Amino acid sequence: MATTSDTEGRMRVMREAVGRHTRDFPLHAPDESVKLPEKDVVLATGTTGVVGARILHELMHDDSVARIYAVNRRHKGQMDTLLERQKIAFAKQDLPSDYLQSEKVILVEANMDEDGLGLSPALLGEVRESVTHIVHNAWRVDFGLPLASFEPNIRSVRCIVDLALSSHLPTPARILFVSSIAAVWLANTSPHASVPEEPAPPDFALINGYGQSKWVAEMILQQSPLQSTIVRIGQVCGAIGSNGSAYWNTVEWFPRVVKSSVTLGCFPSGNARISWIPVDAVARFLVRARSTSSGFLHLVHPRPASWAVLARTISVALGLHLVPYIEWRAKLEGATRGSKANTNRGRLPVAKILPLLPPMLSSRDLGAGEAMDLPNLDMTAASRLLALDENLLGLEQVDERDVQAWVQAWKESGFLYPPKL
Ligand SMILES: NC(=O)c1ccc[n+]([C@@H]2O[C@H](COP(=O)([O-])OP(=O)(O)OC[C@H]3O[C@@H](n4cnc5c(N)ncnc54)[C@H](OP(=O)(O)O)[C@@H]3O)[C@@H](O)[C@H]2O)c1
Repeated sequence: MATTSDTEGRMRVMREAVGRHTRDFPLHAPDESVKLPEKDVVLATGTTGVVGARILHELMHDDSVARIYAVNRRHKGQMDTLLERQKIAFAKQDLPSDYLQSEKVILVEANMDEDGLGLSPALLGEVRESVTHIVHNAWRVDFGLPLASFEPNIRSVRCIVDLALSSHLPTPARILFVSSIAAVWLANTSPHASVPEEPAPPDFALINGYGQSKWVAEMILQQSPLQSTIVRIGQVCGAIGSNGSAYWNTVEWFPRVVKSSVTLGCFPSGNARISWIPVDAVARFLVRARSTSSGFLHLVHPRPASWAVLARTISVALGLHLVPYIEWRAKLEGATRGSKANTNRGRLPVAKILPLLPPMLSSRDLGAGEAMDLPNLDMTAASRLLALDENLLGLEQVDERDVQAWVQAWKESGFLYPPKL
């Protein structure tokens, strides 16, 4: 259990990180000969990831966007080009990639934690003369690492701020930062209250280094002279594609629970709330939110579903018994103890991340409240934006079809039942 001095020490380190990255912001010095473009020009980072690929897809089909700079980190020592990596990211989510080679999209390899993102002088000049919006989405998503491991990500926020301020346009580029519910995971609110869409104190973020890093990033943006929007997103889930399956990255905690349950032959029952939101809706919201004047927005599913529906569907789809959480957990622990640990490692992928999850699937073992003990997020400002988009306003509750589509994708990829050698 963390002592008060541990807690104070960790918060001091977080504040120091903010301090290090908020000194001497440059002044914005527009060039009077450079005019604001008629349509938006958007620089989006991390488009090879799950959310980022969807953001890029949305931007490509947005008529109010003239050009997109899709900025991604370099993969040192790898032969595949960024275009190939981007195509693979699109294929995973069943998104057509023909548009990727249109003039509207410029794929850019960058060093996001360097001044000017390490772009060539010519490209940097182009960005400074045209980019109106930056969507900063690239981040290391790993609950097991300490805050120090996120230093390059944190530095990237400052580099993005400086880039926006170096714009030659009459106003600096607006920044939309993709933050996470993890930055407020430990919000000490009663089950009925919710976290407001505003800056949060550091202790809300102490869940893990990832949450802390998002808090630090939020504070850097808050203290910068720029107008920015910070979107704290809850759990993202796969969206049903035209092929009927729904890609959901198998390194995440929930796919690991499902695969481990297949090995155990049972799945935990419960009635917890799940406010998971499909990735296509997330991207649509983010792209819409790029011009909002709100400083903070929260995004979880506006119509939460129930773990009970999810458990029932998984039980039928995979032929698993539903058992109380305590029983499921005891089986899992039994299968990972002693000599069984090695044999079962690959078949019980949740075992590896168990210590990183809050009291596992709680709330009070899936009885009530939100699964994973995630806090309630107030969505007053976000709801106003949702209301402007009929697809988002009419967003349906996650139901059996979604769960079946996730299962289908995990089966097709060989994740649930690897091919026999
Ligand atoms: N998935 C969720 O449930 C969820 C919930 C809340 C917030 N978010 C936020 O949403 C954003 C996207 O998440 P995601 O689920 O799409 O994750 P993802 O699939 O892992 O994608 C992450 C993206 O960031 C890039 N990236 C990773 N580490 C990086 C680094 N050190 N420097 C530069 N780029 C790096 C990745 O590039 P490579 O392709 O080269 O690896 C990829 O493009 C993140 O900011 C995350 O915190 C996600």
